[in-house]
Amino acid sequence: MLRRWLSARDSSFEAFETYLGRFEQSTHEGFVICLQGTGAIVGGVNINNIVRGTIQSGTLGYTAYASTTGHGYMTEGLGLVMQFAFGTLELHRLEANIQPENTPSLNLVKRLRFVREGYSADFQFINGAWRDHERWAITAEMA
Ligand SMILES: CC(C)(COP(=O)(O)OP(=O)(O)OC[C@H]1O[C@@H](n2cnc3c(N)ncnc32)[C@H](O)[C@@H]1OP(=O)(O)O)[C@@H](O)C(=O)NCCC(=O)NCCS
Repeated sequence: MLRRWLSARDSSFEAFETYLGRFEQSTHEGFVICLQGTGAIVGGVNINNIVRGTIQSGTLGYTAYASTTGHGYMTEGLGLVMQFAFGTLELHRLEANIQPENTPSLNLVKRLRFVREGYSADFQFINGAWRDHERWAITAEMA
């Protein structure tokens, strides 16, 4: 499910430690989406490449799992991350870059009132090719 839209990841322990180390930098924030009650992890949201100063923006990455899609967990979880980003982190803008065929991801940002800003050809190298992406974004005032 993930392979089509995200870069293939090395699943070794060392690679995971490196991945976690990313969130020790002030430019990256990582969240897991957990079910109330059981605490089971049902997804994750990252805010990457945070730019401060007069921009105050970050780029979203997110994923659910095959067994956890289709329940609204990501809508609720990403909505909470947005509140945290615009509140505690004092960001002003969040963007998501999404391949045009990734309908579940487009539906997710539309539900959360992101707007389509444009189209970036050959935006990201994923699974052997440069992929076009749509750019969607939301500001604190729009949320
Ligand atoms: C993108 C992705 C996170 C979306 O996950 P999702 O499960 O569709 O999102 P949600 O958890 O918010 O669930 C919403 C779906 O559950 C349905 N749903 C069922 N019960 C619901 C409830 N109680 N509340 C809200 N939605 C509910 C909604 O109708 C919606 O389905 P629809 O889009 O067919 O209408 C997921 O498809 C994914 O991980 N994809 C692979 C990784 C990826 O593409 N990442 C993004 C790269 S840009």
